[in-house]
Amino acid sequence: MNPVKVLAIDGPTASGKGTVATRVAEALGWNLLDSGSIYRMVALAAIKRGIGLNDETALIPVAEQLDASFNHGRIILEGEDVSVVVRKEETGNAASKLAALPGVRAALLERQRAFREVPGLVADGRDMASIVFPDAFLKIFMTASAEARAERRYKQLIEKGLSANIDSLVLELRERDLRDASRPVAPLKQGPDSVLLDTTQMGIDEAVQFVLDRAHERLAGKTGN
Ligand code: DC
Repeated sequence: MNPVKVLAIDGPTASGKGTVATRVAEALGWNLLDSGSIYRMVALAAIKRGIGLNDETALIPVAEQLDASFNHGRIILEGEDVSVVVRKEETGNAASKLAALPGVRAALLERQRAFREVPGLVADGRDMASIVFPDAFLKIFMTASAEARAERRYKQLIEKGLSANIDSLVLELRERDLRDASRPVAPLKQGPDSVLLDTTQMGIDEAVQFVLDRAHERLAGKTGN
C-alpha cells in the first residue's frame, strides 16, 4: 500500500475542479496533478506531427515519449511554453477525442501515478478515483449544470484574451460530456464511493471549503460524507 495520500477530484469540463484542486493543494501544501493538461499536451504533440486524433497506433508512442513538464505554473512541451494554447477549447476537444483510446490512456497511467509524492497529492481529471488512484482517501465528484459551466468557461477564456461564444460553448460542453461519459474505457461518472459536489449555485470559495472540510474530517479519522 502506498502511504502517500491522494485526494481525487473528478468531474466534467469547466466544473471548476481545476481551480478547486489548485487551491486545495495550496491549502494542504500538497502536490497537484492536472491530468487533463497531460491529455491536452498529447493532443498538441499529435497535431504538430500531423497524427490523426483517432490513430491509436501512432498516438501511443507520442503519449509514451511525451516531453512535458510543469514549471512554476508554466506548462512546457518539447521545450516550448504552451501554457496558453493548452487551455484553448479546441485543444480540450482534441484531448477528449484521443482520451477515448485505451492504448493512449494506458500509456499515460504511470506518468500520472508518478505525481504521488510526499507530503500528498491532489489530482483532478475524469478517472482519478476509478482508475489512476482507486485508493484515494477522499474522492470528490464535482459538477454543475452545462449552462453554469459554459458561463464560467466563457469568463475564463475572455480573461485570457481568447475568443469565445457562449452558445457554441454550451453545445461543445454537452458534446464533450457525452463523449467523455460514454466511452467504454474510464468513462466520466460518479463512483459509489465519491462525494458529490454540485457547484451550480456555489461560489469557488465555498467549493474549496467543502473539499477542505471533508479532507480534514477524513484525515482526523472521522468518516461522514
Ligand atoms: O479536464 P480537461 O478539460 O483539461 O480535460 C481535457 C480532456 O482530456 C477531457 O475532455 C477528457 C480528457 N481527460 C481524460 O479523459 N481523463 C482525465 N483524467 C483527464 C482528462
